Order: sequence, then structure tokens, then C-alpha cells
Amino acid sequence: MSKTFESPEAGDSGIVIGGSSFPANWRDIAGWRADGVSFSSPSNEAVKLYDALLHQAIYHYHDPMLGGFTGTSKSMLAADPDFAMGNIFTLGMDCFATSPLKNAEPRKKLIDFSAKAKSDGKLTEYELNHLIAAELMAAEDYWGAMIKFEEILRQFPRDPYALQMAYFLALTIGETKRLKDIPSSIVEHYTPSTPFYGHVFGKLCFGQGENCEYEAGEISGRKALDHFPLDNWAHHALAHNFEESGRALQGRLFLSNTARDWTQGTTFSHHIWWHTALFHVQLGEFDAALDLYDARIGPMTLKDGGNFPLSDGSSLLMRLHLEGVNIGERAREQATAWTNHNDDFVSLFYDGHNAFMSLLAGDRMACTTLINNMQEYIKGDRQGWNKDVTARVGVPLVEGITHYMDGEYSSAVQTLAPIMSELQGSIQGSRAQKDIYAQILLHAAARSGVSSDLNLAEEILTNKLKESKLEKHTPLNQRFYERMIAVHQH
Ligand SMILES: [Fe+2]
Repeated sequence: MSKTFESPEAGDSGIVIGGSSFPANWRDIAGWRADGVSFSSPSNEAVKLYDALLHQAIYHYHDPMLGGFTGTSKSMLAADPDFAMGNIFTLGMDCFATSPLKNAEPRKKLIDFSAKAKSDGKLTEYELNHLIAAELMAAEDYWGAMIKFEEILRQFPRDPYALQMAYFLALTIGETKRLKDIPSSIVEHYTPSTPFYGHVFGKLCFGQGENCEYEAGEISGRKALDHFPLDNWAHHALAHNFEESGRALQGRLFLSNTARDWTQGTTFSHHIWWHTALFHVQLGEFDAALDLYDARIGPMTLKDGGNFPLSDGSSLLMRLHLEGVNIGERAREQATAWTNHNDDFVSLFYDGHNAFMSLLAGDRMACTTLINNMQEYIKGDRQGWNKDVTARVGVPLVEGITHYMDGEYSSAVQTLAPIMSELQGSIQGSRAQKDIYAQILLHAAARSGVSSDLNLAEEILTNKLKESKLEKHTPLNQRFYERMIAVHQH
């Protein structure tokens, strides 16, 4: 093991953070070759640091011994500035889910790197395939990139990066069935001593839950945590399982009892706090959810300021607003942060959050700017999956949200109902995340005063029950149903 990786607390067994160990058995060139992957770099140091980088990305933490993600990247490219896979990985990550207008620099670097690497002709087959996948991501062709990563995975089933990206691209483009099929396709190639063995089951857990296989999903998730208790994704996958199967109390207790482990993750824990708050909302514990926003979710999401964290903060506030909770001035801080993303257009899922949060904060101008920019984006030169989806349903989504926030509930129903199936099936996000849009439609239908809309609200709830393959409504939906019927009878 190179000196770079030595940890005085944990040695070869792992890095001690808060008393627990993250894995640190970084593979050198020979180690990767044993897992079927060959690099063109002669540097063992660079290759080991690439493995360290992957562990941090996949387990959602920053390794302080290596200077976190940024420090590890720098050390890796210092060890071998021409390390092809290191360059492809870092540039690909910089291009993924970013606007080409705002993130032109890594795209330019990727083009230059590609031209040189292809003319040198030294890339291994593995690296060349990853370069093509990175170029597809840079061009916002998420479908094409996902297919390419799947191809790589078929050829190199123990490639954790291809697994990670095929999986997250599937989540990004609403390919729910693939969230189970992708990890299922390679799990037989892993043994308990293979890096990321448990994590493959964590990915499977989430995919099984999203496809309503709750019992199988829970077994996979428990297996993942049994193998590696600090796996943030596996905690998160189990939280989804409890949420989707209507077991909010078990979910809240599970996250509370394992917080010591998942709070050690540094890049994803805001989202697990969000899931904790969702359980509070399900259980009608609104004060606890609001306290969690003030103590954790608000500060974490605003400090980061990125689309994904902001979607968590905003979604929680909107859910509480729909429940009739007074959220005070909190919408304003989220809405202000969203103004930095009014021309990103990396995911329609985020743009909808931007819209309802601006309106909740009373900033109609920001929402108007968003919709004007969206129309320019649709007419413009950018290509890709998000543009296709936005062109189909982006404007009606923002207009429907606007009607709802204006109290024009019947118009909101007329605008949102025809696009809801497309929204739920094509935009980024888990079922729990995308449910915010179904909830807005549900509330609009229940409040419009039109009897056909009330029938629609009942139909939405019945369909939710059928689609989730549950015998009874989740606590939130049951509460809503009872309230709706009581108001209607009154
Ligand atoms: Fe989630």
C-alpha cells in the first residue's frame, strides 16, 4: 500500500471517522486487472487514488485523510497527469447534470482530452468506452449515456463506476424498472470480498422498492448494511422502502436508530434528513418536521445551494404548506437560492420546485423569468432528454402550479391532470420525490368545488393504492381522504 493511503488509526482496514471504518483497500493496477479492468496508466498511485475517489463518490463521503474528493482528484492527477480514466471520470462528473452554458470549461477540456487520447491511440477498450459515455453526458444525451454504461457493465460487470452511472442515469430519466434490472444483472459477479459487494444490494434494495417489491427490497437493504453499516445509499434505500410501503413509524425509528452511521456521510445526509422529515409529515408530526427543517435541512440545503439539495428543502416546505402548516418566511430563503438556477434547465423536476417555491415566497417575477427562460430553452440549440421532456410538459407544469398557488384550483386540475402520467413516468426522481406534483394535483382536485374534480381526487388516491400494491393507504393519503370526504359531506 502506498504511503498516500496509510491511516494511523485504521491501517489497511479502513479510515476511522467517528469510530467506524470506511473501506480503504484501494486496488492497484493488478488489483483492478483481477476484477477485469485494465488501465493505460503505468502509475499504481494514480490507479489506487481513482479507486479511493470512486469509494467517496459511491458511498457519499469525503475522506479527510485524502483531502476529500477535491484533494483526492488533485493527488490522482498529480501522480499521473495523463491518467486517462482519472481525466475521463473527473471531467465526466463535471459535465453530468450541469448546463453547457454555465459549465463550458469541463466540456472544452473533455473535447481536447478526447481528441488527443484518440490520436495517441493508447486508451484501453475500457477507457475508450468510458470516454464515449462521458461525451454523451456532456452532450446531455442521458439516454445514450445510460445505454453506453450498460454496455460497459455487460463487458466489465465488476466496474463500480459503470454501475453507478447506468443506475443514476436511469433514475434521472425515469427508467424505474432499470433500477432493479441493472444491479440484478451483475450481482452474481460479486462475492463478499469484492469491493462494493454490499452496495450492489443497496442499489438493488432501492430498485426493488421503486418497483413495489418491498419484502425483497428490505432483505437486500439489510444485507447491504450488514456488509457495510456506513453505506448511506443503503440507509436511504431502506428509508424509501418504509416510505413507499406505508410504514412511516418503522422508517422514522430505523433512521433514528441508525443516525450515528448515516450522518457520517458528508454529501448525501441532507437527503436522509429529508426522508426523516417525510416520515414526520406522514405521521402528522408537523412541528417535528419544521424543527428538522430549521435545524438541519434548511441550513444544509441553503449552504450547498445546488439543485438537488434545494429540491429537498423546498419540497418539505411545500408538503407542509399543503398540510396547512404555517411555514413563515422560510419559503423566501429557498426561493432566493433558486434564482441562481433560473436558466439551468438540467432537470424539469427541479424547475417545478423552483416555480412553487418562488410563488410560495410571493416572488411572481422569478416564476415569470423561469417560464420565459424555459420557452427560450425549448426553442434553443441544446439537445437531450431533459429538453424533450420540458418541451412536452414543462410549460404546463409551471402554469398548473401557478394556477394552484393563485387559488384557481379548477384551472390547475385542467392543466396538470393531462400531463401527470407523463411527468411521473419521464422526469427525474424517486416515486417519493415526484409525488409532490401528484399531491399538488390532488389538493387542487379536492379544493376546486367541481364534482368531477372531486371524483378525480378519489380516482388519484385509488390509483396510488393500486400502483403501490398496498392494501391500505399510507397515513398521509388516508388522512387526506378522510378530510376530503368530511369537507364534501359538510
Ligand atoms: Fe430519496
